[in-house]
Amino acid sequence: MKLTILGGGGFRVPLVYGALLADHAEGRVTAVTLYDTDSNRLTAIARVLADQAEGVPDAPAVLATTELDEALRGADFIFSAIRVGGLEGRAADERVALDEGVLGQETVGAGGIAYGLRTVPVAVDLARHIARLAPHAWVINFTNPAGLVTEAMSRYLGDRVIGICDSPVGLGRRIARTLGVDPERARIDYAGLNHLGWVRGLHVDGRDELPRLLADPHLLGSFEEGKLFGTDWLQSLGAIPNEYLHYYYFNREAVRAYQDAEQTRGAFLRDQQEGFYARMKDPAAPAFPAWDRTRAEREATYMSENREVAGVGERDESDLESGGYEQVALALMRAVARDERTSLILNVRNRTTLSVFDADAVVEVPCLVDANGARPVSVDPLPYHAVGLVTAVKAVERGVLDAAASGSRATAVQAFALHPLVDSVSVARRLVDGYTEVHPGLAYLKRP
Ligand code: G6P
Ligand code: MN
Repeated sequence: MKLTILGGGGFRVPLVYGALLADHAEGRVTAVTLYDTDSNRLTAIARVLADQAEGVPDAPAVLATTELDEALRGADFIFSAIRVGGLEGRAADERVALDEGVLGQETVGAGGIAYGLRTVPVAVDLARHIARLAPHAWVINFTNPAGLVTEAMSRYLGDRVIGICDSPVGLGRRIARTLGVDPERARIDYAGLNHLGWVRGLHVDGRDELPRLLADPHLLGSFEEGKLFGTDWLQSLGAIPNEYLHYYYFNREAVRAYQDAEQTRGAFLRDQQEGFYARMKDPAAPAFPAWDRTRAEREATYMSENREVAGVGERDESDLESGGYEQVALALMRAVARDERTSLILNVRNRTTLSVFDADAVVEVPCLVDANGARPVSVDPLPYHAVGLVTAVKAVERGVLDAAASGSRATAVQAFALHPLVDSVSVARRLVDGYTEVHPGLAYLKRP
C-alpha cells in the first residue's frame, strides 16, 4: 500500500512514520512518498525517518519528491498536512489580529479566518489534482483549519476526504482516565465542529459515566479541561468542552495573555523550527534526537497562555507523549484498508446527523469506519448555546469558501464580521486590509 504525504517536509511527519513502523500486519503501508514544495525540508525530514527506520527490517520505503503528479499517482491513501505561508504566515495571522485586539489563533477567530482564506484555494487545487490523478485514493486531511479545509476539499472529493484532529480523542482519553475507565471501552458522545465541540456523555457498557465526573468537584478539577475551564463552569454547562472553547468562554483573558506574551505561538514555532531545519543541514548532526527534543519542547508549551490564564501549570505527563495525531490517522487508515470496523470522531459531511446543518456541512462527530469510509452515527441534538456558536461559525466558514471561490473582498469582510469573536464590522474591514497587506497569498481578493 502506498501512502503519500502532502506537506511531507512538515515537522510532524516523523510521528506518522513512527506509527507506521509499529504496524507489521497484512495490508500495512509499505511505501511512503513525501511531497513538499521545499526540498530542504524534505531532506531534513527524510533524515529523521531514516534514523527511525534503522534496525526495522520491514520499514516502509521512503521517497521524497517536489513533483505533485508523481506523488499522487498510484497513492492508496493521501495525508494532506500542508501549511500555506509557513509559520511566518501563522505569526502574521496572529500579529494582525492581536493589534486589532482580537484573537489570532490559527483555527479560531480572526486568525483562523485569515489562515482559511489563504489555505482554501491551495487545498481546492490539490483536491482537483487528486480527483484527476488518484480518484480512488482516500484523503485524510490534517491541514488546519481542519473542518473548513475538509469541507472545501469535499466539494471535489465527496466522502473520500475525511478530516481528523487529535483533540477530541485526547479529551475523551483524559475523561476516561480520570473516571478510571479503559478509554478503549468507552463510547464518547461528542458533537460540534472542529475545535468547537463538547463531550456530553461517556458510555461504558451502556452506562453514562460523565454525570459521575460532573458531580465530583475533586475529580473534575483533577484533569486538564477541569483546570482550564474551572469546575463551576463545567458543572453549569453540564458538558466538557474541547480545549479550544477556552478561546470563546475566556476570550478577553486569552486575548490579553496572547498580547502580553513575549512571542506568539506562531513566532515561537517559527524560530524553533528554523533552528531545527538549519541544524539538519549539517550532515554530521544526529537527526532523530534533534527532532525529538524540538517535538518535546513544542508539546510542553502547547496552549501555555491559556493554561497561564487559568493557573493550570504544567501539562500532564500523559498528554506530552503525543500518540493522538498519528494514532487517529493510522486507526482510520487501517479501518478503511482492512475493513476493520471501528468508531472514531472525525470531520465528515453532516448528512442528517445534526439537524441545524445542511447535508454538505462538515461536522466533527463520532463515525463508524470500514472499507466504505466514515459514516456519522446519530447523536443527540446540541443545546441552544452550542447551536448558536456552531451555526455562527459555519456561516463564517461558508463566507470563507465563497470569498475563496469569488475573490470578493466584501464576502471576506462579512466572514470576519460575522464571527462571534470579532466585535465590530469596522474591525473586520481593517482586518481584511491588514491581512491583504501582509499576505501575498491573499492577492486574489481583488473584487469589491
Ligand atoms: C492540537 C490541535 C491541532 C494542532 C496541534 C499543534 O493537537 O488539535 O490542530 O495542530 O495541537 O498545535 P501547535 O500550537 O503546537 O501548532
Ligand atoms: Mn486539531
